[in-house]
Amino acid sequence: MDHVAQFTGPTGTNAVEAAMKLARKVTGRENIVAFTNGFHGVSLGALAATGNQHHRGGAGTVLANVTRLPYDGYTGAGEDSLLLFETMLNDNSSGLDKPAAVLFEVVQGEGGLNAASMEWLQRLEKICRKHDILLIADDIQAGCGRTGTFFSFEPAGIKPDIITLSKSLSGMGLPFALVLMHPELDQWEPGEHNGTFRGNNHAFITARKALETFWKDDVFASEVRAKGELLTKRMQALVDRFPQLFEKVKGRGMMQGIACRDGDIADAITTKCFERGLIIETAGPNDEVVKCLCPLIITEAELTQGLDWLEEAIKETAGERLKKAS
Ligand SMILES: Cc1ncc(COP(=O)(O)O)c(C=O)c1O
Repeated sequence: MDHVAQFTGPTGTNAVEAAMKLARKVTGRENIVAFTNGFHGVSLGALAATGNQHHRGGAGTVLANVTRLPYDGYTGAGEDSLLLFETMLNDNSSGLDKPAAVLFEVVQGEGGLNAASMEWLQRLEKICRKHDILLIADDIQAGCGRTGTFFSFEPAGIKPDIITLSKSLSGMGLPFALVLMHPELDQWEPGEHNGTFRGNNHAFITARKALETFWKDDVFASEVRAKGELLTKRMQALVDRFPQLFEKVKGRGMMQGIACRDGDIADAITTKCFERGLIIETAGPNDEVVKCLCPLIITEAELTQGLDWLEEAIKETAGERLKKAS
């Protein structure tokens, strides 16, 4: 790709702000389409595109100029959620102001590990191209190898106009964020999206080293894919064994989790994991997904140990529930 790189303020949300501002500036349109359960950060522009009510409640003002549409699978498996978007774009009185851009995640990290299908992503790109709408991939959580390729959208073969990256990008947990944009879109005036701390000198060094070390060939990515398969196998076995606690495995690559029947189950499991020395987060609208987002460099032995602890915590939770019910 010949995209231009812009080092924004070192948070993901600042990269999203820059991407949204740029799309609006370049197209002269205000509206941006974002999806149900999307998470893009908590500064005002990005927050308008974020679905979570808890975070939206902190805005203290109107969150405007974003149209929310259903993400892949939102209205049920096999439902065509993009048909609505397409129909609205083709209808002069749908009430949808023509968007500057569509902002999407390939796997919704905070929203509950919802993974879009490759077909859905390809169709989304097609619709955007047809209607001259910019495509912004928010790869802040799903990017940098997390799903088994550097960019999460690579297997779909799509080419987003703007891409946001942060989180793992520094290779060392340092604050660092980046916007990649098609060269034609680099229409910023000098310093137009600036601030005191842009880039991060220390992170420039570690990010470069991480890129040179892990992305010079396919070895690292194939290890990530193998560890992702191990996660799927172990988690699916747990879902099959404890149907009273779980619905299904969600996510992709090393960004997978178990959807529990409610948030209390997920809370009990993560608490028991913590007691064993394992920090594991939850995601989803009701914090009901036990989410495995371990470091990509984890060894298979460490991953197996972590999954063993998770399994113990699940067994204990199932036992307690059974006792309570009897
Ligand atoms: C997809 C996505 N976009 C944006 C953000 C915001 O990043 P930050 O918390 O660094 O502002 C996050 C954070 O979780 C995220 O997952």
